[in-house]
Amino acid sequence: MGDTVIDATAGNGHDTVFLAQLVGRQGRVWAFDVQSSALASTQEKLQQQDLSAQVSLIQSGHECMEKYCQHGVKAIMFNLGYLPGADKQYTTQAATSLQAIKSGLSLLAKNGLMSIVLYPGHAQGKIEAQTIENWVSSLPQQEFAVLQYRFINRVNDPPYALLLHKRV
Ligand SMILES: C[S@@+](CC[C@H](N)C(=O)[O-])C[C@H]1O[C@@H](n2cnc3c(N)ncnc32)[C@H](O)[C@@H]1O
Repeated sequence: MGDTVIDATAGNGHDTVFLAQLVGRQGRVWAFDVQSSALASTQEKLQQQDLSAQVSLIQSGHECMEKYCQHGVKAIMFNLGYLPGADKQYTTQAATSLQAIKSGLSLLAKNGLMSIVLYPGHAQGKIEAQTIENWVSSLPQQEFAVLQYRFINRVNDPPYALLLHKRV
C-alpha cells in the first residue's frame, strides 16, 4: 500500500488493475502503452473497479519512462510481445525493451523488483528474449539478483519470466 510502481506494458489492463489494487489510493501506478486502444481498455477496467484515481495512463513507449517517473519505484512489470487479437505491428522490440529495462532498473528503489515476461515463440520475441537474457545475465550479482522461471516440459519455445531484485 502507498507504493509507486510501473506497468510498462498496460495492454488490456489486467496487470494495471492488479497493481492498482496492491498500491491503494495512497499509491501510484504509472502504466505505459503505445496503443490508444490498449489504454482505453485499461481505463475501462479501472473504472469498473473504481481504481482510476491511483493510476496514470501514459500513451508513450516505456523506453521514455524516465521522463515521467522519479527514482524510488518499488516494482516494475513488463509483459512483452503483442496483445493477442490486436495489431502485431505493436509488438515490443528488443532495442526499446532493453532501453526501458535499463531505465527501469535505475528508477527502482533498493529492494525493488522487476518482472519481465518474454515470448520466444515468435520471431521477434525470440530476438528480444535473447537480447534481454544476455544483458541481464551480466548484471553484477552484488547489485542485482536475477532469477528465471520457465517451463521445462513444454514444447515450442514457451513464454518464461525473469525476476530482478535490486539489492543496493
Ligand atoms: C503482451 S501485451 C501486455 C498485456 C497486458 N499486461 C495485460 O495485462 O493485458 C504487450 C503490450 O505492449 C505494448 N507495447 C508495444 N511496444 C511498446 C512500448 N515501446 N512501450 C510500451 N508498450 C508497448 C503493446 O501495445 C501491447 O499492448
